[in-house]
Amino acid sequence: MKPKSKILIIAGSDSSGGAGIQADIKTVTSLGSYAMTAITAITVQNTKGVKSVTPLLPEEIRDQIIYTSNDIKPDAIKIGMLHSSEVIKKVVGSLKKIKVNKIILDPVMIAKGGAKLINNEAIQTLKEKLLKQVTLVTPNIPEAEILTKTKIKNKEDMIFAANILINLGAKNVLIKGGHLNSKKVKDIFLNKSELCVFESFRHNTKNTHGTGCTLSSAVTTFYSCGKSIKKACELGIKYVNSAILTNPKYGKGHGPINHLNSMELKKKFK
Ligand SMILES: Nc1ncnc2c1ncn2[C@@H]1O[C@H](COP(=O)(O)OP(=O)(O)OP(=O)(O)O)[C@@H](O)[C@H]1O
Ligand SMILES: [Mg+2]
Repeated sequence: MKPKSKILIIAGSDSSGGAGIQADIKTVTSLGSYAMTAITAITVQNTKGVKSVTPLLPEEIRDQIIYTSNDIKPDAIKIGMLHSSEVIKKVVGSLKKIKVNKIILDPVMIAKGGAKLINNEAIQTLKEKLLKQVTLVTPNIPEAEILTKTKIKNKEDMIFAANILINLGAKNVLIKGGHLNSKKVKDIFLNKSELCVFESFRHNTKNTHGTGCTLSSAVTTFYSCGKSIKKACELGIKYVNSAILTNPKYGKGHGPINHLNSMELKKKFK
């Protein structure tokens, strides 16, 4: 097969391969598209935790975006962790130059252990400058709480927070429910005319490393290929659910999910 679309991923590297740029490339590839990258930071991590984070210079991030896109124009862009206000501003400036309409933002700001990964100034810049520029924003529960200054304990709270994000200028919102203790996982999709609650089977496993990165990349890929943004969310959630179910049980901590779940190897090289 040939790639169905071209995606630019702006995100950090996860040396363990389960999340970040590595999860994004695997997802885009497994769903049949071509992945390009602008790396924002290098992390040293394994399934048990993050040892260090080395950010790249904002100018290097901007140059990766512009130089790459000037040659191969992306059909859609997925944005992951942006660690500082300066980086966010550079990314916003770059997006204006390359003029791609389909942009998905995963506003990564909390580590699995609960620690804040970006400071308050960066959160403010994200809200003021980036939120309005993207097609869809996909916060998890703690991120939605920070962005909306609310507490989220149930589905109604998720819908309330999603409405606040729409009022702040977001076009489409997907609040991910992985962190709530509900029997089924509920992800809330909202825009000015539609509300949709996606309910999925909750797998009882600790191997959910990279579910958020994987979901936003899957949504970006489906959306880049012509699905509506709502349908792309539905299909992305199904892909992640199947990836959790078939996870390869790697590592001693929170292991990766199975990005290959959508694939079948047909060609053999001898
Ligand atoms: N145990 C689970 N079973 C089924 N689906 C899950 C489970 N945990 C998370 N998901 C799904 O995975 C997707 C990502 O949600 P989650 O809330 O985990 O995002 P996240 O916190 O940003 O992930 P990450 O920790 O990778 O940043 C959502 O569609 C959510 O419904
Ligand atoms: Mg996340």
